[in-house]
Amino acid sequence: MKLTQADFELRRDRLAQHMGPNSIAIIETSPVAYRNRDADYKFRADSSFFYLTGFAEPEAVAVIETFDTVDDYTYSLFCRERNREMEIWNGYRAGIDGAIEDYDADEAYAIDLLDEEIAEKLLNKERLYYRIGHRAEFDARVSQWIKHADAQQRRGNGAPSQILQLDRIIDEMRLIKSKQEIELMQIASDISAAAHTRAMQKVRPEMMEYALEAELNYIFGQHGCVPSYNSIVGGGANGCILHYVENDKALKDGDLVLIDAACEYQCYASDITRTFPVNGQFSPEQKALYEVVLKAQYAAIDTVRVGNSYREPHEVAVRILTQGLLDLGLLKGELDELIENEAFRQFYMHGTGHWLGMDVHDVGNYKKENEWRPYEEGMVVTVEPGLYIAPDDETVDEKWRGIGIRIEDDVVATAQGPLVLTGAVVKEIEEIEQLMAQAKL
Ligand code: GLY
Ligand code: MN
Ligand code: MN
Repeated sequence: MKLTQADFELRRDRLAQHMGPNSIAIIETSPVAYRNRDADYKFRADSSFFYLTGFAEPEAVAVIETFDTVDDYTYSLFCRERNREMEIWNGYRAGIDGAIEDYDADEAYAIDLLDEEIAEKLLNKERLYYRIGHRAEFDARVSQWIKHADAQQRRGNGAPSQILQLDRIIDEMRLIKSKQEIELMQIASDISAAAHTRAMQKVRPEMMEYALEAELNYIFGQHGCVPSYNSIVGGGANGCILHYVENDKALKDGDLVLIDAACEYQCYASDITRTFPVNGQFSPEQKALYEVVLKAQYAAIDTVRVGNSYREPHEVAVRILTQGLLDLGLLKGELDELIENEAFRQFYMHGTGHWLGMDVHDVGNYKKENEWRPYEEGMVVTVEPGLYIAPDDETVDEKWRGIGIRIEDDVVATAQGPLVLTGAVVKEIEEIEQLMAQAKL
């Protein structure tokens, strides 16, 4: 499964419709990120740029111009020129011809000509769309273009009179996933699920957290994928650190390990968390807390339904988690009051999910007119309740301390109800224990 140029063209068509006539949209890809000395981070295209172009090379800018009607629009791609010497050192470039032939650009230019060409293109446009505030350097460059266009008034109308936030259009487009996008996310989810399954099979007491992370990376790499965010592999109390990424401690017999890790496939992310015992068997306290989280997660997933509020999974999860904490004696008081006062935040301090797509924390507003928006068909959300009992929490019995649990799956709102993309890795206690026992045979 691969998106084709026709898919990217359809997205540009839709963007042009939203832009209105006599408008111009300018969007750049990400800059190459410097790591240290002569080493850069591996390049990853900007999600919105890639969404519109399918073009994965660095140093590229796409320009969409509409004229008197939106149906008649021009797509220009500015990119690196072909260069034998540079290609020997740094790899293949599509170049100007490739931009037209392989990426369907109507016009293509060397990236070095951007200032010159944009100055011309801006002259008779009414509206300019760009991603205001994404990168200070780009904002400064746009200011220069506007100044330049205004100085040219004798040749035209000067710079556009309106400058609009391009993200407002693209983010809404990206929020609703097409059938093909869901298919790509299903592939990312299946690979990530296989990675978690392997981690459950490979873990042993005294193994280092990074060694377990390597087992996940092995599966991602076998499929040509990279993680969609920094992997969290936290043994014992490290599982209570929400963004723990050091992954440099030994995993202890009797502890749980929390893994929040997943890969992206063709720039589409997955996001999975599983928590399981390092020695293959949950202790009674681990089991008790895990069952509460799992119950909350099932109930929350069931509310990801077209028409329900975005917030419903969180509200349902909070109620079940708080009731569970009451039943186990970790909280005392009256259920509604504990929810009202947010007493649960001592043990559950994050939300229950976020949009998922090309970015792991994907784009798209969560509210409309100050109200949580309802789920629509094709929205994808994570459902990730957890409980984290701090190792130094003296308000609870010692036996609970240092247990961190989160269970996270990726869910699509469909006309038929919630569709779980990440179901290929087990999460029931018996299934986990069975899988781990088999792996030890
Ligand atoms: N892995 C990031 C998150 O779960 O939000
Ligand atoms: Mn998440
Ligand atoms: Mn996650």
